[in-house]
Amino acid sequence: MNPTRTPLVGVFDSGVGGLSVLKALHSQLPAHDLLYVADSAHAPYGERTDEYISQRTHRIASHLLAEGASLLVIACNTATAVAVASLRERWPQVPIVAVEPGVKPAVALTRNGRIGVMATPATLRSEKFKHLLSAHGAGLCVHLQPCPGLAGQIERGIHDDPALLRLIDQFSAPLKEAEVDTVVLGCTHYPFVHAQIQQAFGNGVTLVDTAEPVARQAARLLNVVQPTSAVPRRVCLQTTGEAARLQELAGRWLPFECQVAHAPGL
Ligand code: DGL
Repeated sequence: MNPTRTPLVGVFDSGVGGLSVLKALHSQLPAHDLLYVADSAHAPYGERTDEYISQRTHRIASHLLAEGASLLVIACNTATAVAVASLRERWPQVPIVAVEPGVKPAVALTRNGRIGVMATPATLRSEKFKHLLSAHGAGLCVHLQPCPGLAGQIERGIHDDPALLRLIDQFSAPLKEAEVDTVVLGCTHYPFVHAQIQQAFGNGVTLVDTAEPVARQAARLLNVVQPTSAVPRRVCLQTTGEAARLQELAGRWLPFECQVAHAPGL
């Protein structure tokens, strides 16, 4: 992957959701090779057990490090919630940037003190998320909305599918009822249906996602002082699912070229 020793950043998600973070990393890290693993054969993580999520996460992190990654980005709120502590414990020398629901920015943005959080069931039930909420959400009305099935539908890539739009309507309804003015997209899959979610809430509601701050944090840790315009470097995507499918989605969602392959032995 990295014969010229261009520094490599390893990125992963349960599937295609983390491509929203990869896009931000691509512009913040112009001189780094990027290797992304989509664990699509095992997605969605959000409805799996913690043991399963943790085992998959360790396996993929181990693969990315074996490929030469000098920094890991967990582009998955669910994997972060369940496994970031154990990953950091196992590889204390490796900088690991993780994504978590943007409760803190939402608190800064809300005007009426009513915030909604859409995320996977595994993220919302995690101790890590409970700590995040008590650190930043105290004194506000924060409405938690588990969205089982939503990441799985987005993973299919058909974003005007009536079944997907029905799920968005179903999960936005209780938050509209609660009159939230700010909604955290607490799963990296959800930004790919930003327009559909925005339409369900109406333009008065602000949607928050954390891809940009996560990419800036990676750039800080790598001492990238000034992002410049993109220079030639390699962006490789690997999937445990179908490579042709990932190729098709990446072609639609990413404004840069990538090599796509099946993930070896994962
Ligand atoms: N994209 C992931 C997240 O940010 C996980 C979605 C899933 O696999 O359930 O939580």
